[in-house]
Amino acid sequence: MNESEEIKRQKQYIQKVKEMNQNKRLKYTILTMGCQLNENDSEKLCGMLEQMGYDRTENQKEADLALFNTCCVRENAEDKLFGKLGELKRLKEEKGIIIAIGGCMMQEKHITEKIKESYPFVDILFGTHTLHKFPENLYKALKEKKKLKDIIDIDGEIYEGMPIKRNSHIKASVTIMNGCNNFCTYCIVPYVRGRERSRQPKDIIDEVKDLAKQGYQEITLLGQNVNSYLRVEQEKNIKFEAYEGVHSFATLLKAINKIEGIERIRFVSPHPKDFTDDVIEAIATCDKVCNLVHLPLQSGNSKVLKEMNRKYTKEQYLALVEKMQKRIPNLTLSTDIIVGFPGETDEEFEDTLDVVRKVKFEQVYMFIYSRRMGTPGDKMENQIPEEQKHKRFDQLKALVESQIQENNQKYVGTIQKVLVEGESKNNKDLLTGRTDSNKVVIFEGNKNLIGTIQNMKIVSEHMWYLKGEM
Ligand code: SAH
Ligand code: SF4
Ligand code: F3S
Repeated sequence: MNESEEIKRQKQYIQKVKEMNQNKRLKYTILTMGCQLNENDSEKLCGMLEQMGYDRTENQKEADLALFNTCCVRENAEDKLFGKLGELKRLKEEKGIIIAIGGCMMQEKHITEKIKESYPFVDILFGTHTLHKFPENLYKALKEKKKLKDIIDIDGEIYEGMPIKRNSHIKASVTIMNGCNNFCTYCIVPYVRGRERSRQPKDIIDEVKDLAKQGYQEITLLGQNVNSYLRVEQEKNIKFEAYEGVHSFATLLKAINKIEGIERIRFVSPHPKDFTDDVIEAIATCDKVCNLVHLPLQSGNSKVLKEMNRKYTKEQYLALVEKMQKRIPNLTLSTDIIVGFPGETDEEFEDTLDVVRKVKFEQVYMFIYSRRMGTPGDKMENQIPEEQKHKRFDQLKALVESQIQENNQKYVGTIQKVLVEGESKNNKDLLTGRTDSNKVVIFEGNKNLIGTIQNMKIVSEHMWYLKGEM
């Protein structure tokens, strides 16, 4: 692994914090908002904290440090953060708890200004490009007792070799690239995560091999645009070292497919415009790559798609789906859809419903358009009234739910391979797992099955889960 001077420096800070806390075990809480990339970043923050002598607790009152990893893709996250900060004010006054906020929202100036003004008791603000410096920032906050802000607009480098504390022993996320170059007109992500940059093939392969050794069964490859992995590097002649034949997303899938011990490979999110034939071929030929592909649609209308800067039409999307279905046996699809983008008419929204009817997605993540400051969408004049947006959302939801129910029926009576993940949250006597197509299956079984893949007969469907029998 390619451990830089910077990471060596941060590891020294890890030791310094530990010493400063006199090797006592302290406690922290962490609240993560947003996407799987943020979840993976939080796993890294947890890794650093554990090495610095902090153990996780869910009880805010006993925490010595409260950490927030924020998202700003839609507006509701802001209310959630400010609500929590209000609650923490008393704990700050009573026991001097350290409060740190990081993540995407911190890359927005109007947010950090609001925090400075209304919540001046927050100790550390850090952005997406300075996550790896958390040990240094914590050390300074503890030692100098100063409020500090470590936020830069320059794309952060990719750092290898920091500790990580994963949420699961069975499934692991591996970030393969940071940033986004697409600038969809509704989306804030390119502004808060910077430009696309990919990790070196060897670092990814080594990480997955190590996960396999630890017994992990399932790997999810993460990025804002995974199927353009290494594209910018190729186009701009930025140096990278091919490793085990990896020089693109398709070759990465193939190389990971060969790693012994890993049973399932997933990835999010690909962009339809970059779904090249070699990627389709890799999915079709790699036995471990799951047959559920997430293919964000956003809108089914070509004019709206153009306004969104998505770079494909309704027809191109449907043609891609058809091509994939022909080549990949048992393909299932999930998607993201936004309703109420500026200017969207009822007729244009009908096109979205039309695509949903045609494709019959396994899962649809539905969003009401949310204005994001600084994006072109926010400046568009023909914003849709809230009421209208909600009406469309409900219409889409009704269609999606009826399709899911219909689709669930197809599972009943079939045998599915289920990766057993643990006890069911609602009933400790039952176990829960997932099919290749990521459907939740609940069943009765012995706890020693956790972490294995089992053949299971599906006996009934219940909208959001299936019931199985060994
Ligand atoms: N890079 C990924 C995901 C980005 S964010 C992709 O391109 O698919 C996840 C989802 O949030 C997006 O797919 C989109 O459906 C939704 N989203 C992004 N910005 C939004 C906004 N301003 N309002 C509502 N939904 C939004
Ligand atoms: Fe946002 Fe579009 Fe980039 Fe996805 S591809 S992160 S939706 S700008
Ligand atoms: Fe949110 Fe940042 Fe992910 S804005 S969706 S946490 S990349």
